[in-house]
Amino acid sequence: MFLTTFLLAVPAILQAFALTKSRESLNFKRDTSLQDSLFPTSETYTAGFTTAEGVQVSGVSSVPLSDSALGVYKVASETTHELVQQGGKNAWQAVYNQGSYSSGGTKGGFSFYVNGTTEFASALSAGAYGVMFGYSVMFEQNFQWNMGGKLPGGYGGQGSLAQACSGGRQDNRDECFDLRIMWRTDGAGELYTYLPLTQGNANAQLQVPPQSIQNPDYGFSVGRGSFNFTSGVWYTIAERIILNDPSQSNGEVHVWVNGQNVIALKGVQLRSSSESVVQGMHFITFFGGSTSSWASLVTQGAWFADISGAIITSTTLY
Ligand SMILES: *[C@@H]1O[C@H](CO)[C@@H](O)[C@H](O)[C@H]1NC(C)=O
Ligand SMILES: *[C@@H]1O[C@H](CO)[C@@H](O)[C@H](O)[C@H]1NC(C)=O
Repeated sequence: MFLTTFLLAVPAILQAFALTKSRESLNFKRDTSLQDSLFPTSETYTAGFTTAEGVQVSGVSSVPLSDSALGVYKVASETTHELVQQGGKNAWQAVYNQGSYSSGGTKGGFSFYVNGTTEFASALSAGAYGVMFGYSVMFEQNFQWNMGGKLPGGYGGQGSLAQACSGGRQDNRDECFDLRIMWRTDGAGELYTYLPLTQGNANAQLQVPPQSIQNPDYGFSVGRGSFNFTSGVWYTIAERIILNDPSQSNGEVHVWVNGQNVIALKGVQLRSSSESVVQGMHFITFFGGSTSSWASLVTQGAWFADISGAIITSTTLY
């Protein structure tokens, strides 16, 4: 009698256990769409990190959105990146003061570097040739785009030369690269690059559709209008950097927006020496451009979340 009751109860006990398990996984709220937007390839990732919630990718660990966890350094004075809750995410807030632009007296946006976790940073300095960076960005409702502004992207080079590879610099350009995203008039998106100034790099960049331009400051606008930002919604950007072999032009930079590959830059030379490596994210945002016509027309904001990075060990060609 007792045995029969027990046997009859077994399925119920198992079912209760299964319910507990599934409730646990429901609580985790795995977000496969966000996951596929941050890590859009089926490559093997190692030493990775992400501040995104609900993302479970092999080789990628969860970290809090904080300066210490992300190895934030060289933070520009007079700017802030306050931690806030925005649209369901923990985010860093950028404030673009009215009249602010890159070299304006009024400061706006923010500027620093992200090394990533210690494990990630060590793998980069050891010479990792492939890396995936990612983050989500949302512009305030009715954002006034004016002529454009910078958004974060990967960077690298030889030692501290890497950190001077922007703002129109021409010297030592074969020892550094800077691969930020930009918004332009009406929210048009593009990749804004500083690469070694070779004819091969110019040719490779100018052929990226729908429109690519060499700018007067020696930076290239690559794939302008291949995606467009609208204010008031989250966009998830992934940038995959594959370093070239030092003597070859086989480097690559790919950009995905919300999981869709929008920019494919191939056959470039990011370096001429194996001492030049990816160093992290140039985590910067501001209006400009270096003249006041670029300035933010009003005081307005944007938010940055889901900050991620991972080393790619087995590359596939995209
Ligand atoms: C980040 O990396 C740079 C270059 O290796 C190093 O000088 C700096 O101390 C690191 N900062 C943090 C906070 O990890
Ligand atoms: C971005 O906007 C421009 C201008 O309206 C348009 O020509 C282009 O097709 C848009 N790009 C995409 C990918 O929708």
